[in-house]
Amino acid sequence: MLNFSFCSPTYFEFGRGAEAKTAELVRKFGGTKILFHYGGGSIKKSGLYERITKSLNQADIPFAELGGVRPNPVDSLVYEGIELCRKENVDFILAAGGGSAIDSAKAIAAGVLYGGDFWDFYSGRYIEEALPVGTILTIAAAGSEGSPNSVITKEKGRLKRGAAGEAIRPAFSILNPELTQTLPAYQTAAGAVDIMVHICERYFSNTSEVEVTDRLCEALLLTMISQTPRVIAAPDDYEARANIMWAGTVAHNNLCGVGREQDWASHGMEHELSAFYGATHGAGLAVIAPAWMKFVSKKNPGKFLQFAERVWGVEGVDEGINAFEKFLKSIGMPSSIKEFGANEEDVPMLAEHIGLTEERTFGGYVKLNARDAEEIYRLAL
Ligand code: NZQ
Ligand code: ZN
Repeated sequence: MLNFSFCSPTYFEFGRGAEAKTAELVRKFGGTKILFHYGGGSIKKSGLYERITKSLNQADIPFAELGGVRPNPVDSLVYEGIELCRKENVDFILAAGGGSAIDSAKAIAAGVLYGGDFWDFYSGRYIEEALPVGTILTIAAAGSEGSPNSVITKEKGRLKRGAAGEAIRPAFSILNPELTQTLPAYQTAAGAVDIMVHICERYFSNTSEVEVTDRLCEALLLTMISQTPRVIAAPDDYEARANIMWAGTVAHNNLCGVGREQDWASHGMEHELSAFYGATHGAGLAVIAPAWMKFVSKKNPGKFLQFAERVWGVEGVDEGINAFEKFLKSIGMPSSIKEFGANEEDVPMLAEHIGLTEERTFGGYVKLNARDAEEIYRLAL
């Protein structure tokens, strides 16, 4: 096991009706004037918008609002949010929705206090300070409710890039599994895949003697394998929704990643599919992750035997990957990047756009160069 630091101070309020605590938590974490940030309308349809605004009004917490965050959120709305926060003297950002609304809120939170262009953070600059962010999660997927990360797409050049900093880890996150019951099956399934791949990005590691985090990863994967079909069959299955929701948070707050090298090549390759074809992140991962597994398992089969045996209950490297693919198909996920609109001719461009060359590589479990990435995109066709 490698040395590590771990500090994950987000306060979680979990369970039925938990959003009733919103105003109280905003106050507890210092918000006096807030920006209420959300997506494209699902919170209005479900009645969550009404409940939140009413509770803020009742608690006399003034707020500005900015809706319209798109899946795979973009820089233009972030600039708008930064300007609005400065104009309105906002000191706290409240996001309601999924990874997209939360990531956009985090970008605004960092940008408001920064003298330069917020995109600097998405070009490698670490986020040292930000306004506090609180979240009300409506989809179990990205794990942004407990992570120190944000992913934004710069429309010009279609650059989908991540930023990081402890300052953007949410101050609090409200997790009510009931709020996820209105999700369409496709979004539920895509969210489940994202959670599983967040675990795999950490599980496939060359660091040895990490039994505790290996076992945590396996427990989460087994939970997702048993609970996901339940919510696909019965969207209002509260208990299964609850297990998935907490799994999604624990999968990505890095509890399962400490003390080991991590991989992250599948995420890097998927971001290009979201940037160029608007692919739903988890659905893109459902195609890329098995292709990545097929490619890297030939070069480094070690961990795949354990994955097959302990997670899927089968013997053999290929058998484990096949079981994963079969599971993804059973929950309605795509199996080819053609389903997003990509074709063979796009492959070199996709690999090049990641920024890889012969020498510049990515991925922790197996180092991949531009040619390897092309090979993986071809396996995903
Ligand atoms: O916009 P609305 O109308 O709310 O609709 C959303 C959106 O269309 C809908 N939805 C959410 N909750 C719903 C609902 N529909 C009905 N009922 C509900 N309860 O679902 C759609 C997807 O929402 P989105 O926020 O995009 O989903 P997700 O949580 O999967 O977030 C994806 C984004 O997070 C990034 C991804 O790259 C992507 O941009 N990620 C962020 C990470 C992080 N910050 O740590 C890590 C991840 O690896 C990921 O990259
Ligand atoms: Zn992800």
